[in-house]
Amino acid sequence: MTHLIAPSVLSCDFANLQADVEMINASNADWFHVDVMDGVFVPNISFGFPVIKAIKKHAKKPLDVHLMIVNPDQYVEEFAKSGADVLTVHYEACPHLHRTIQLIHSFGMRAGVALNPHTNVNVLENVIQDIDLVLIMSVNPGFGGQKFIDNAINKVKEVKELIISKKSNALIEVDGGVNLETGEKLIDAGADVLVAGSFVFNSENPSETITNLKEM
Ligand code: DX5
Ligand code: ZN
Repeated sequence: MTHLIAPSVLSCDFANLQADVEMINASNADWFHVDVMDGVFVPNISFGFPVIKAIKKHAKKPLDVHLMIVNPDQYVEEFAKSGADVLTVHYEACPHLHRTIQLIHSFGMRAGVALNPHTNVNVLENVIQDIDLVLIMSVNPGFGGQKFIDNAINKVKEVKELIISKKSNALIEVDGGVNLETGEKLIDAGADVLVAGSFVFNSENPSETITNLKEM
């Protein structure tokens, strides 16, 4: 499978969101990566349901929603209603992770689990067959534009081995500090989906940057 590109709307121009959504629609991107931050799980607040619904109204590609929030179970139904296609929760925020995964599936969404940089891959051993996506954080979640943590490459290799050994169909997504240089290493290590925020939106030609990431 050729890898997927998921531009992070966290780096969009929020005063002209529709223009950026249409740029992504017309580009070689595969998904919209949508970061939800609650100011509790991470030291930042991004946006919630009204903004996701506004994106959904114009988006012609799946919404990959990354929840950086505590108690995600409480809001799973509302995220489904808001248009999420993939819903990813953090391992560190879910004491009953298996139940959370079942809940996400019960609303017809694909379920992802994100791991912070310090979290070992082996914590997924008992759920890897139940999930559709593993999100390896290559920065500490909360902000765009941070420096890539190299150890994420080793973690991608570890997840790949786990997926193969357990015969799982989960995709491996990586989020944080992705550019052409780090992206290439991640693809070589086995990543299936690359999230990119500042690298895309701070570039002179975001659509062309998406193509460059896609054609690596
Ligand atoms: C960080 C978010 C990322 C962020 C990535 O907590 O989960 O999706 O938008 O931004 P860049 O690509 O700039 O590191
Ligand atoms: Zn994210």
